Amino acid sequence: MTKARKRVVALISGRGSNLAALIEAAKEPAYPAEIVGVVSNVADAQGLEAARQQGFDTRAVTKADHSGREALDAATDEAIREMGADIVVMAGYMRLIGSGFAEKWAGRMINIHPSILPLFKGLDTHARALEAGMRVHGCSVHFVTAEMDGGPVIAQAVVPVLPDDDAERLSRRVLRAEHRLYPHALRLVAEGRARMEAGRTVYSGVAEGERDLLISPATERLPEAADLESLARFTP
Ligand code: GRF
Repeated sequence: MTKARKRVVALISGRGSNLAALIEAAKEPAYPAEIVGVVSNVADAQGLEAARQQGFDTRAVTKADHSGREALDAATDEAIREMGADIVVMAGYMRLIGSGFAEKWAGRMINIHPSILPLFKGLDTHARALEAGMRVHGCSVHFVTAEMDGGPVIAQAVVPVLPDDDAERLSRRVLRAEHRLYPHALRLVAEGRARMEAGRTVYSGVAEGERDLLISPATERLPEAADLESLARFTP
């Protein structure tokens, strides 16, 4: 018997390229989740319009119609429930939610953030990573809690920062990583292989996979890893 796919509602505010990546991933019949609706706090968000044109259930739940954070949270929560969501994905949802809303969806609401958390929470992450002189940067998918960009991390991807990067060029490289990371992380959550317990992410059935090493800037030839036994000979 095939397991029912989890019903996913996306919250967006803008372009919606991460939403598009999730929609694409969910086209695979074996993918464990399907996008059933899209809610935006920006009525004319590009991603909302694109989703509408593709036949998705879409709603605009905006500040103009609901004044105050709690009222907007409540209306958003209602829309998500009406769509029958099991899981909520924030994909460029540019507003802070209150703790009540976060708690209602604890362990079932996830967000993507363009930095290696807990570094660079908040806005302008690419410019701040460059300013800090980082040689690597990346993106994180995490469970949403009341603390902005502060919930337990589910998965991260890392990209090199290259010598000629500006914020724009770096953001494009990170965005490509986001589009690969988010479907992977949603899969882990939808299959119950990544769960939030006592404020931490716990995993089950996650293969170790190959452990790669990223060094940035790369040298022509990366040093070979010394085997542990030969290192032990130098230990006093
Ligand atoms: C992404 O960089 C995401 O990490 C951040 O906002 C951006 C949204 O892009 N939270 P898009 O709307 O998914 O194209």
